[in-house]
Amino acid sequence: MIVRDRLNPTARDLPKSGIRKFFDLANTMEGVISLGVGEPDFDTPWHIRAEAIYAIEKGYTFYTGNMGLIELREAICDYQRRRFGLEFDASQVLMTSGASEGIDLVFRAILEPGDEVILVSPTYVAYSPLVTLAGGVPVFLDAKEETGFKVTKEMLEEAITDKTKMLFLNYPGNPTGGVMTKEDYAELVPLIKEHELFVVYDEIYAELTYEGKHCSIASFDEIKDQVILMSGFSKAYAMTGWRMGYLIAHPDVIHAFLMIHQYAQMCPSTISQYAALEAAKNGDDDIEMMAKQFMMRRNFIVNGLNRIGLKCHMPKGAFYVFPSIAATGMTSEQFCEELLKDQKVAVVPGNAFGSAGEGYVRISYAYSIDEIKEALARMEAFLRNKGYLK
Ligand SMILES: Cc1ncc(COP(=O)(O)O)c(C=O)c1O
Repeated sequence: MIVRDRLNPTARDLPKSGIRKFFDLANTMEGVISLGVGEPDFDTPWHIRAEAIYAIEKGYTFYTGNMGLIELREAICDYQRRRFGLEFDASQVLMTSGASEGIDLVFRAILEPGDEVILVSPTYVAYSPLVTLAGGVPVFLDAKEETGFKVTKEMLEEAITDKTKMLFLNYPGNPTGGVMTKEDYAELVPLIKEHELFVVYDEIYAELTYEGKHCSIASFDEIKDQVILMSGFSKAYAMTGWRMGYLIAHPDVIHAFLMIHQYAQMCPSTISQYAALEAAKNGDDDIEMMAKQFMMRRNFIVNGLNRIGLKCHMPKGAFYVFPSIAATGMTSEQFCEELLKDQKVAVVPGNAFGSAGEGYVRISYAYSIDEIKEALARMEAFLRNKGYLK
């Protein structure tokens, strides 16, 4: 048997993540300093880890209900009310194994073959392949640095066709750090309502909003049945390895998610759910401490990049900067490969996030100031060696 020929071609032929491709190369080299990974360098706060240990000691090692622990779903409703002023019922909350499971579920439960999903490019790497896998068609809106990588009414209007079923938003955004305000969303809401679109709102970086307060598109009552809120514990609480995320939506939508989740996942890790319960109830101070640190690092790296000649806007959220490398005349892949070879610094080529990311690189500042300082010094040396800095 020719094994390759017997596989589902859609899955087999999905592109390898542009991030992974690059880091496979970096992993073969010694002494590399990497600002590539989107994961907080902080340890999960101790009181959260302690709750997981108690959960094991108490023998909470069985499956939970498919929706997840009721006390956790209630704690998430309290959290959404306390932090963002949003009202939900626990019956609208489905616990998932990371936001990642949520991304897969929304496409599989909602899309029919040929349905179009509007994605904002540069875009987080998982969305487009998972749309394709679910039989949908990704349609990209190219967001621009000049407008803060936001979606405008005009852009959305142009992209909507009679096949559009979903608009997928991620603010604060990976990889750009872009943020949208209440006024920005207000412009989109009438179109979303008129065309009966589902809006999936990935707000995993909501707590990492550095200017003003985070605003969720779920705060618009007129489209509340159409919004699917997606979030998780990975970024705000430094809990990437715990794999805890959640979806909040209209009960009928949650029911469709549950029909897949009950067979494909059953429930996320019970022990992680107890840790998340502690985080949702008592983690506000931790979030704020880490967000302060990230903001300080953001200011440091943006100033540093502009000083060494890489033009970099000030992102308003998340923990990524997205400087332009246009001045070097290189493609983003060339830039990253040369930088890695010349100075052993690993950053991610902007084109890994779609064609609108060409001409940029993504640098994560979820690293210590010492690592950022060292990386900046090496990048400066690289630009000098190449003759881009006098
Ligand atoms: C925008 C965005 N959404 C979702 C995820 C996945 O998060 P999780 O760890 O909860 O699966 C990430 C992780 O990098 C992300 O950047």
